[in-house]
Amino acid sequence: MAAFAVEPMTGALGAELHGADLSQPLDEDGREQVVAALAEHLVVAFRGQKSLDAEQLERFALQFGDFGETPFLTPLEDHPNVVAVVREAEERGALFGGAWHSDWSFQERPPSYTILYGKEVPRHGGDTVFTNQYLAYETLSPGMQRLLDGVEGLHSARRSYAPSGTFGQPDSGRSMEIRGSEDAEAEQRHPLVRTHPITGRKALFVNEVYTVGLADMTAEESAPILDYLFRHARQISFTCRVRWQPGTLLMWDNRCTQHHAIDDYSGQRREMNRMTLAGERPT
Ligand code: SIN
Repeated sequence: MAAFAVEPMTGALGAELHGADLSQPLDEDGREQVVAALAEHLVVAFRGQKSLDAEQLERFALQFGDFGETPFLTPLEDHPNVVAVVREAEERGALFGGAWHSDWSFQERPPSYTILYGKEVPRHGGDTVFTNQYLAYETLSPGMQRLLDGVEGLHSARRSYAPSGTFGQPDSGRSMEIRGSEDAEAEQRHPLVRTHPITGRKALFVNEVYTVGLADMTAEESAPILDYLFRHARQISFTCRVRWQPGTLLMWDNRCTQHHAIDDYSGQRREMNRMTLAGERPT
């Protein structure tokens, strides 16, 4: 029976789980401990998981659900659910994941969990920062909570992956193969406040990359509300910052967090493997 030692990262969210060997399947007790740690801490890091290959990563992921859909990104050959998130030392241009977001929130059923594994990481820099969206909701005034109740956000991939978006055009200087598409123009409605299916807690569900407006409101009406919520949601007391080591495997819950990759490691190479697991329709 596995018993992981849990070491919280900050007062807001994040924990390191010690004592796991993820090259081997978890037993049911170990799996339940990871799910419970995610429910409590939202982001969990396993250190020292050296040389996990794509099969081992897939096997780990599938203990927590089915794979979600991975649009716009070209996955590893023979591993349609594993994407290499790579930035070469000399690479310039927009960083994949380099703004506050919740993964693929434009999907009808956005991912529950994302798993990111550090294959090659900078000696310093290239951290990933997270913010707790339960706290973002709970610290709104009762009046603001009432105002948001029943309002839906419009989510779209257009700012990133439409032909005019950040990653919409082919770029020979970019090591990740990203396919921009008109499909990215589509919009998906989700409640601004969602209830987590495991914890029953309410979380704010907006992000500045994919939330492009509010349903049934004009752009003029929705912009100031969204601007306020984007700023409110990422205040420093809601965050934790994960420093990568080779062999760190990080897993987070997109239903109650946002994250941001930091672009501060010019001159160093970073290579991660990333998988997303299918979530449910936010309610
Ligand atoms: C992502 O947003 O999925 C990538 C985050 C990172 O590279 O740190």
